[in-house]
Order: sequence, then structure tokens, then C-alpha cells
Amino acid sequence: MSWQDFPKVELHLHLEGGAPPAFIRGLAAEKGIDLSGIFTPDGGYRYRDFDHFLKVYEAACTTLQGPQDFHRLTLAVLEQSAANGVVYSETFLSPDFCGGGDLAAWRDYLAAIESAADEAEARFGITLRGIVTCIRHFGPEQARPAAICAAETRGRFLRGFGMAGAELVGRPGDYRWAFDCAREAGLHLTCHAGEWGGPDMVADTIHDLGVERIGHGVNAVKDPQLVADIAENGIVLEVCPGSNVFLGATGDWARHPIARLRDAGVKVTVSTDDPPFFDTTMTAEFEGLERAFGWGEEEFRALNRTALDAAFCDADTRDRIAKKLEPAA
Ligand code: ADE
Ligand code: ZN
Repeated sequence: MSWQDFPKVELHLHLEGGAPPAFIRGLAAEKGIDLSGIFTPDGGYRYRDFDHFLKVYEAACTTLQGPQDFHRLTLAVLEQSAANGVVYSETFLSPDFCGGGDLAAWRDYLAAIESAADEAEARFGITLRGIVTCIRHFGPEQARPAAICAAETRGRFLRGFGMAGAELVGRPGDYRWAFDCAREAGLHLTCHAGEWGGPDMVADTIHDLGVERIGHGVNAVKDPQLVADIAENGIVLEVCPGSNVFLGATGDWARHPIARLRDAGVKVTVSTDDPPFFDTTMTAEFEGLERAFGWGEEEFRALNRTALDAAFCDADTRDRIAKKLEPAA
């Protein structure tokens, strides 16, 4: 069976990381920016390892120069997601790439992204909500304006705050001010951890930043007591197997920790992270899980339910999306 049209919920997608390479090449050509070094001859993104991936990612972002570019980007990304059956998606948005942390500029970027999301909902039937992310390797000082941007624009669309970037820079507690600011504004919280860092990084992220969800979290599997704590406390993992396998953060699909985490009672969900960078889609993620672990409709419906329960949207949106996930009568 093809999983392409099976309805899906995705919680972990970086908006800029979803940019099709042809889209970024087009913007670069329009603006006269030379980005030839970041593409392979057949038109994909080219990088050596995770640190280099972050550099290529930031180079691609230099083509995104105003709200209108983000409007186009949002439509391009959501069209791809919807073509893979995604009916609800949460995307990471970074004020650092949208006006450099300036609140007035951020409001303009966010309005453009939100209006593109409304257009995509009408055209492609996909619902989007936003999570502001600070960028860890830009440091704790730069995380503060990102958190203020998030706090000041919390609403129907902007639901959460989190952190992406180079996980091994600093410790979670260095970013406590930003997460406290976001929590006090009523935002939901998630943070990348346990992609490159060990179980200690996951534990400190949960304890020091008070997050409800962890981006990746797969290295928690190395500490059985931590796995038990995560299961008991209902912390949700935004697992991105294709990303992990492609970047070498874990072993291959057959050895990916998602099955062991799930079997230990952890709430796992599945996402693409940065699909064109990792040659993946939500359809490909489901196909990989089917091939590696024999998962099928029952397991995929359970993934969807866990993801929708953990989604940061309001109750009305959750009820509306739940109806789209019900099997056709
Ligand atoms: N930003 C975009 N993709 C990321 C990843 N996989 N880990 C950390 N930061 C990211
Ligand atoms: Zn990510």
C-alpha cells in the first residue's frame, strides 16, 4: 500500500529547511546572490556533515530577504507537505532569519507567513501552526529577543517556543531566561536535544527548561532510567528518523531507536525535520518505518493520535483535525 494519501500529522518541520533547492536557486538568481557552492550538480543541497549542514542552511537563508519571500516559501513548503498527506503541521520559525530579532520586523514576517498559511489551508487543505525557535549557536543573548518576539505575537497561529541549532554549544540552563519568558507568555515549549547530545542533555533540557516535547531525543535510549522517566512524565519525542539516518546521528533504519522507545512506552511522533536536505518526505518516513519495523495502519494511526494530542494548537483546531484522521466510513 502507498502511504502518500494517508492523512498525517507532523510536529517538527523547519520552515527554511523545507525550502526546495530549486526555490532557493530561483531566489538567488533573482537577487544576484552566488550560491553555486551549496548545490550538487543534480540540484540538491551539498554539505559534508551536520556542522556544514548548518552553514549551508544559513547560506540558503540569505536569499530570504523579506516578508514576501517567506510568503512564497510557506506556500512552496506546504504544497509539498500536503502532497504527502500532511493535514496538520507545526513549523519552526526563527526571528533571527526574519528581521534579525527586531520585533516590528518580525510582526511583518509573521503576518506574511500566517497569510500564506491561510491561503495554503484553502488551496491544499493543510493547517499550519508556528513555533518560534532561537538558534542555540547564536548564543543565549540572542535567544532573548527571539523569545520576546514569540511572547509578543502569541495567538491563534503562533503557539510555541523552542531551540534548534548546534546542540553541543553551551548547556540548556544557559537559555533559561528565554524559555521562562516564553512560558510566562503562555507559549508551549519544545527543544532540540538528544540528536547529538547524550541522555544528560535530554535530562537537563527537561529539567532546566521545562519543555513538554523534545526535538529528536533519540539518544535518551542510551539510559533506561531516563527512558522510563520520559515515559512516566508523558514527554513527547518529535522523532525524525530519515534526518537521523541521513546525517548519521543514529545507525541505519533497522537500528533506529524509535521502535525501542515506543516499546518502552515513550510517546513518539514522526516528522521530516528539513525534508529536501535529507531527501525525505512524510511518505518516505512512513515507508521507512514499514520496511524497518513492519509498521502499518495501526501503528501510523497511533502516531497520528499521539502527535495530535501533543500538538500546540487550540482545542477547536484539534477537534477539526481529528475528524480528518478518522478512517473513511
Ligand atoms: N535546524 C534545522 N535542522 C536542524 C537539526 N536537525 N538539528 C538542529 N537544528 C536544526
Ligand atoms: Zn529539527
